[in-house]
Amino acid sequence: MKQILVTGGLGFIGSHTVVALQEKGYEVVIIDNLSNSSIEVLDGIEHITGVRPIFEELDLRDKEKVEAFFSTYASVEGVIHFAASKAVGESVQNPLLYYENNLAALVYILKELAKKGSANFIFSSSCTVYGQPDTLPITESAPVKKAESPYGNTKQVGEEIIKDTCNIAAGLKAIALRYFNPIGAHDSAEIGELPLGVPQNLVPFITQTAAGLRKELSVFGDDYPTEDGTCVRDYIHVVDLAKAHVIALERLLEDKNEGNYEIFNLGTGTGSSVLEVIQSFEKVSGEKLNYKIAPRRAGDVIAVYADTTKANNVLGWKSELTLDDAMASAWKWEKKVRGL
Ligand code: UD1
Repeated sequence: MKQILVTGGLGFIGSHTVVALQEKGYEVVIIDNLSNSSIEVLDGIEHITGVRPIFEELDLRDKEKVEAFFSTYASVEGVIHFAASKAVGESVQNPLLYYENNLAALVYILKELAKKGSANFIFSSSCTVYGQPDTLPITESAPVKKAESPYGNTKQVGEEIIKDTCNIAAGLKAIALRYFNPIGAHDSAEIGELPLGVPQNLVPFITQTAAGLRKELSVFGDDYPTEDGTCVRDYIHVVDLAKAHVIALERLLEDKNEGNYEIFNLGTGTGSSVLEVIQSFEKVSGEKLNYKIAPRRAGDVIAVYADTTKANNVLGWKSELTLDDAMASAWKWEKKVRGL
């Protein structure tokens, strides 16, 4: 059984990917420092798959511990690296936390992988690297725009660090996956998104409002040059996203990659406005959402959605679940968490 390391494996996308890996017969080792996740996620994973992943509580900023991990787990054949901080506003307030968490840790892992004769590495990147694109939908060859926040910068620089390392480390192969907007939860409601404090992202804010934790949702701006005036994003179901990670990893394990560093967009290819997301939620939940139109949020781009041709044709992956599926699963999860 091939052993795969998933860093940040107790987080939102990480936990769903652990399930997808186990379902394909991989043995998973999780590293997580529990900074934005809970140990109970291990139970959720085990309830779904019947297998409890190996768990190492470890902070990847600790270089010695990273070295020790890779000497203990010398048979790890692939690494999927999710562990990172992802709040744009926080990154402006505390840039060094972001550079240390998202880049120092990445360097320590790559140093260990470069020492191995062969290594396969999947990196969590983001459509944030495109900024406000000049044309839509966005292909992988669209220019990377100057980052608007330290968070965005860590994704851009992270990609560069991996590319440069792949150039010199014989046997190191990597794929960067640029996610659009991951939402939803596992249909079992055993795992899902669990933001600490007030959610910054749209979908957890919607479900928490409907569950009574928040008074009302603020829709940030309805005067954008879009069909209904609200911003447009490409919302991708986290279960589809998780499957893409397994496919990308297998591409490397089976030596099907073209070049030792590749990039893929992961989205649905369809843009949805904030109001369309709210309508979808109301339809599938049967709940009326309390929301108001509020001023624009600083830093928001007007519209982003993926051209998924490369992921479809080269990776052989396509999103299957719909926005309604995602909203229904997110609501099922929220109700379970709140005991509703
Ligand atoms: C945000 C980050 C992005 C990051 C991603 C990680 C910004 C500008 N972008 O994406 O870099 O990779 O999170 O999860 O912060 N909205 C509301 N009301 C709310 C919350 C959101 O109207 O209470 C709207 C936003 O204006 C936006 C859409 O919903 O139009 C999606 O917002 P969000 O879920 O925060 O994702 P992004 O901003 O696209």
